[in-house]
Amino acid sequence: MCGIIGYIGDKKASDILISGLSHLEYRGYDSAGIALCYNGTTNVYKAQGKLINLSEVLKTKQEICDVATKGIGHIRWATHGLPTTTNAHPHTCNCKNFTLVHNGIIENYQELKEELVNCGCIFQSQTDTEVAAHLIAHEYGKTKDLLSAMQSAVKKIKGAFAFCAIHNNEPDKIVVAKRNAPLIIGVGEGENFIASDIPAIIEYTKKAIYLSDYQVGVIKKDSIKIYDENNTLITNKIEHLPFEAMAISKMGYKHFMLKEIHEQGDVVRNVLSGKLISPEHQIQLNEFKLTSEKIKNISRIQIIACGTSLHAGMAGKYIIEKFANIPVDVEASSEYIYRDTIADKNTLVIGISQSGETADTITAIKQVKAQNSHIAIITNRADSTMARLADSLLPVNAGIEVSVAATKSYMAQLISLYLLAMYLSEQKNITKYETDIKNLKQELIELPNKIETLLTNTANIREIAKKYSSYKDFIFIARGINFPSALEGALKLKEISYINATGYGAGELKHGPIAMLDENMPVLAILNTGIVYDKVLSNCEEAKARQAKLIGVTDYLADKDKDLFNDLILIPSISDLISPALNIVVLQLLAYYIAEYLGKDVDQPRNLAKSVTVE
Ligand code: AGP
Repeated sequence: MCGIIGYIGDKKASDILISGLSHLEYRGYDSAGIALCYNGTTNVYKAQGKLINLSEVLKTKQEICDVATKGIGHIRWATHGLPTTTNAHPHTCNCKNFTLVHNGIIENYQELKEELVNCGCIFQSQTDTEVAAHLIAHEYGKTKDLLSAMQSAVKKIKGAFAFCAIHNNEPDKIVVAKRNAPLIIGVGEGENFIASDIPAIIEYTKKAIYLSDYQVGVIKKDSIKIYDENNTLITNKIEHLPFEAMAISKMGYKHFMLKEIHEQGDVVRNVLSGKLISPEHQIQLNEFKLTSEKIKNISRIQIIACGTSLHAGMAGKYIIEKFANIPVDVEASSEYIYRDTIADKNTLVIGISQSGETADTITAIKQVKAQNSHIAIITNRADSTMARLADSLLPVNAGIEVSVAATKSYMAQLISLYLLAMYLSEQKNITKYETDIKNLKQELIELPNKIETLLTNTANIREIAKKYSSYKDFIFIARGINFPSALEGALKLKEISYINATGYGAGELKHGPIAMLDENMPVLAILNTGIVYDKVLSNCEEAKARQAKLIGVTDYLADKDKDLFNDLILIPSISDLISPALNIVVLQLLAYYIAEYLGKDVDQPRNLAKSVTVE
């Protein structure tokens, strides 16, 4: 979603702002802009579309780019108003002395706008951000002090924001504020940085201060002062940023998505490291803070997540219910928040999120936290807002995921859920699954090699992708623990290729969706040796009888059944229980190669954002 960068120091601000924004591009955006300050004046440059358009504009403004050593920048993902140059940030007040960039949504922008119009403000854009710009400038008119103007303005604003503001009368500073939207201050020597996410500044500094909600910061080139909502000067700890600049390079792959798919063997090794020592050892999950006594008292589990993370949670339900013998409900966070939910001290709530910044999930977690449930968070960003809400933080350490389409983070979430299910079972001393758990541990240890074997033999998947890339619709079917794989495979395909793809439980096909089947509807079926194998095979027969083109993804198929399928993708032999971790690699690759063959913008698909910070 939107991204913020700010710089104050002695270097060329334009270079740092553009480079910072380029490292936020992965979040998804539709326009960009920067404001450059020099000699008490501010120059704003904006462009619709990709950052390259803004860079073209800046090529004609070299005289300012060469001298400006302070500036703020933004990439916008439209919420209020079309993705036009006028609506792009930064926004200014009418006299152009005050300039602002903003992430989030101002919920009461209409009533604030009415008041400001009555005070004589003239609006140029349809954005809620311009309302905030006029409001802060209006407050500045009263106090002639940017810090107090920001402090009084934020008290009038309802909603979520990360602000980065400058005023021509106070050329030595940038003022920042936040509520329910991330903002970090990168600490340099004789220079400081502001960003909405680490990749924007990691090549310049590894030290940062995380601004908390309701705090306001005054950033100068050689000082950082943070004030709480009572205007008391406070000291936030300087933290070490967890990434290396190299982690945000494509490392020779054509797209980040392909690189991230190929990292999944190592991702599994990372998640298992220190937790799964051998099939004979119990799972070590020191991050899980409930005692075994309290684990025995857990009466239900609620998993809350969105999108791909939701699909990981759905697979988690199968595994946890199987081994831990605790009922599990899985729900989209966006649905969870607008009804009366039932949770208590014996409910374990698991929030799953790659980014840890998804607004729907954060709201749901805050809501349920008030009901005294234990909150476990599974996230790839141990530095995120959600991580900070956790009673038990289970970081998956998949490394930064740049491609908007989640791949390796899904794998890491899935593996974490296998570990958690086994851990809960062992802490509850459930002995009847000992052998199954031992076998699962062995399979998890072997999984990285199987993933890598699969990834070295992708020619067949590429061929199939090419063959089916012209279809407009796709159906994915599976049953049991692979039903979420079907949903996730369909999501991947539609996200990056814009082909209309839907996942169904294979048994549900005959209850409606079968009406859509004909020779123009490819059906991809996931069938692994196990309890539902024959059932899925029958569902495939039903599809074939309606002339659907059938693609099978399987670790085994009897010769007699092979003719049923138009195309087959064979994966290494694996048990049904852990097969989602291999099947998903196939489906990710299929989606990737179809999108790549169609020439789509794989890493930054249209309309999507990496972390969805609005409800
Ligand atoms: C996955 O490819 C998507 N980018 C999207 O569905 C994503 O999983 C969803 O927005 C949830 O994000 P989170 O995991 O960061 O909370």
